[in-house]
Amino acid sequence: MTDPIGIDAITFSLPRSYVDLGDLAEARGVAADKYRLGLGVSQMAIAAGDEDPVSLAAAAGSRLLATSGRDPREIGFCAVGTETAVDHSKPVSSYVHGLLGLPSRCRVFETKHACFGATAALLSATEWIASGAARGRSALIIASDIARYEVGSPGEPTQGAGAVAMLVSARPRLVELEIGRSGSFARDVHDFWRPLHRKDALVDGKFSVQCYLDALAHAYRDWKEQFAGDEPLARTCYHVPYGKMAHKAHRMRCSLDGLDEAAADRDFETTVAPSLRFSAQVGNIYAGSLYLALASLLDAEAAALEGRRIGLFSYGSGCAAEFFAGRVAPGAAAMVASLELAAPLAPGARARLTIPAYEALRRDDVAADRRASEASSERPFAFLGVDPAERRRYMSPRE
Ligand code: CAA
Repeated sequence: MTDPIGIDAITFSLPRSYVDLGDLAEARGVAADKYRLGLGVSQMAIAAGDEDPVSLAAAAGSRLLATSGRDPREIGFCAVGTETAVDHSKPVSSYVHGLLGLPSRCRVFETKHACFGATAALLSATEWIASGAARGRSALIIASDIARYEVGSPGEPTQGAGAVAMLVSARPRLVELEIGRSGSFARDVHDFWRPLHRKDALVDGKFSVQCYLDALAHAYRDWKEQFAGDEPLARTCYHVPYGKMAHKAHRMRCSLDGLDEAAADRDFETTVAPSLRFSAQVGNIYAGSLYLALASLLDAEAAALEGRRIGLFSYGSGCAAEFFAGRVAPGAAAMVASLELAAPLAPGARARLTIPAYEALRRDDVAADRRASEASSERPFAFLGVDPAERRRYMSPRE
């Protein structure tokens, strides 16, 4: 029998500030329950000018290496999924490779397909290992994004920022993935897009919700027909642009399984809600949202889920989707405890921004990429600005 392949370790990093959605609702003259219950979000992470997808990715990767006990010299594949890249040519993964001091004998690239990018990278990594090309090495997969919509737009309460890093290896200590057994779906649609000159995304909000649900229906049916077998899924993690979307997704999936709405809602509390705790405090982190949900689920329930099968649904606007499954590894609870998954959300780990301070950050943000390099920050991986040749500079902890 061949060795299982999957996620050996997972961690995430967040910007140091967040906005409370109650504060935002008050400032926008909206009922607080619309954001809390209507969207299912209570806080959203906000990146400052020195926090970008590179600095967030490097911080998540560094934390992963520190907490998993893995030697960076074991890594032979480093891919970053992002839809908020910092350069049209140089990938975020190259910066990360340098900042983390990864081996030069390494396949390094960036993937983009809206929020699906990190899933494409993760599945490629599992196939790299299954093919034998890894020769015992591991892959570092990072999803890193800053979700921005125009201030005052309907998308504003569904922003967020953060990165999720995963080590992918043979004999994984967290989740053994079912390799080559995905249900997939793709269609050319304009539900969400971000022209090259814009920092804020454009979105046809209600249409995007419908596209997500259609993609789920097709991908899930494809998976169910071929790979579901007789073993039910104990839990399912969905892509989470906001918590309520996962609720809508679960209703859709249950309807395909013949359950009515009341039964779907009861099932949701057990099989989906535990995966939404982190995202309710972070907001949408695009490519990492599904994996933040997985981290939340493992943090809440790894012990009860050891040996059990879970489902994963990844959606990227534009659009592409895959539904796939895995099994929580024996011993996962002990591994989860050592990773200290919830540490970035611990009391005192982040500062609550006032709405005027958040709005000022958003105004400054427009020019952040053109700021002259000022090598003054002490924060590891901070974006320091650009030099006269427009090369981006970061605070390297190894300098
Ligand atoms: N108390 C409780 N609930 C309330 C309420 C109140 N006082 N007032 C309103 N609500 C509820 C509404 O009933 C509605 O619930 P349902 O969806 O269950 O009907 C919910 O709050 C949202 O309210 P609206 O229907 O008025 O919607 P909106 O105009 O605020 O827009 C949105 C919502 C379309 C999600 C918007 O925030 C948006 O465009 N977000 C960005 C796009 C997005 O996240 N799309 C998701 C699918 S695409 C994807 O997943 C890729 C990705 O990551 C972007």
